[in-house]
Amino acid sequence: MRETPALSAEQQAREEDLIQRVLRSFDECTNPRLKELMISAVENLHAFVREVRLTEEEWLQGIEFLTAVGHMTNDQRQEFILLSDTLGVSMQTIAINNEAYDDATEATVFGPFFVEGSPALESGGDIAFGAAGEPCWVEGTVTDAQGRPVAGAGIEVWEADAAGFYDVQYGDQRTAARGQLSSQADGSYRFWAVTPVPYPIPDDGPVGKMLEATGRSPMRAAHLHFLVRAPHCRTLVTHIFVEGDELLDSDTVFGVKNSLVKKFERQPVGTPTPDGRVVEGTWSKVTFDIVLAPAGA
Ligand code: BEZ
Ligand code: FE
Repeated sequence: MRETPALSAEQQAREEDLIQRVLRSFDECTNPRLKELMISAVENLHAFVREVRLTEEEWLQGIEFLTAVGHMTNDQRQEFILLSDTLGVSMQTIAINNEAYDDATEATVFGPFFVEGSPALESGGDIAFGAAGEPCWVEGTVTDAQGRPVAGAGIEVWEADAAGFYDVQYGDQRTAARGQLSSQADGSYRFWAVTPVPYPIPDDGPVGKMLEATGRSPMRAAHLHFLVRAPHCRTLVTHIFVEGDELLDSDTVFGVKNSLVKKFERQPVGTPTPDGRVVEGTWSKVTFDIVLAPAGA
C-alpha cells in the first residue's frame, strides 16, 4: 500500500468534514438496506480517493472509462458485468451468496453466453449440434448434501466450440454447443459435448483496454458451463475446468476453484465409447458429480 503523505491538521479536518456531510445527507433515507449500502459505498469510495490522493486528471479518466463502459453496453453486451467479472467483484458476490455447505458443489461466474430455451436432449444426447471440437463424454450424478440422488434435476450446459466461440458470437442464429437434460431416477446424467478449450472474453471494448493497460490477459481457462435446478435445492451455476490447463491460475474472471478442476481423460483413436457411438479420432471423458445444497442454505 502507498504511504499516505503527512497531511496538515487543517487538510485532514476538511477531508473528514466532507465525508461526514455526505454521510449525513442519507440521514432521512427510510430504506435501511439502501442507507447501509450508500453509507458504505461513500465511506469506501472516499477512502480510496484519499488513500491514492486521486488527481483531478485521474478522476476524469475514471469518469471517461465508466462512460465508455456504459456506451459499450446494450441488449447483447453487458460491459459493466464484464468489468465486475474482471475485477473479481462477480466472484466475490457469488462466494458470499453461495455459502460453503458440506460437500455442495462450488458455484462460479455465470458469464454472458447463457441462452434460455436451449435444445432439450435425451439422456446421452449430444449438445454439439455441429459445433467443431473433439467429442467429450460427460457423466456424473446429482445428489443432495445427504448423498441422496436427485431425480429430475434440470441440467443446462453450454460451452465455446473448438475455435473458442459461443454460437451467439457468430451472429447467424445458429444454436450449437448448448442443451438441457434431466437427471435420471438414480440421479445420474450423461451427454456428449466437445472438449473445452481456452478462449478470450470479449476484449474489444474498454474492459479489454483496461486488461491490456494493466498487463493482463483476456483469456479464460477452458471450461464447460452448468446450471442445475431442482426443487428444494439451491440453484447451482458453475463450470468444470480441465486439469492441466496452463490458464487455471490466471483465469481472467477468477472463476477457477480447485474443486471444479476435473480430469478430462483423452481416449486414443479406436477406443470404444460408452454408448457405442463411432468416433473417428480421439475423444475425451470426464466425470462430474454434482452435490446440491438445500434451498435457502
Ligand atoms: C464465460 O465463461 O463465458 C465468461 C464469463 C465471464 C466473462 C466473460 C465470459
Ligand atoms: Fe464460458
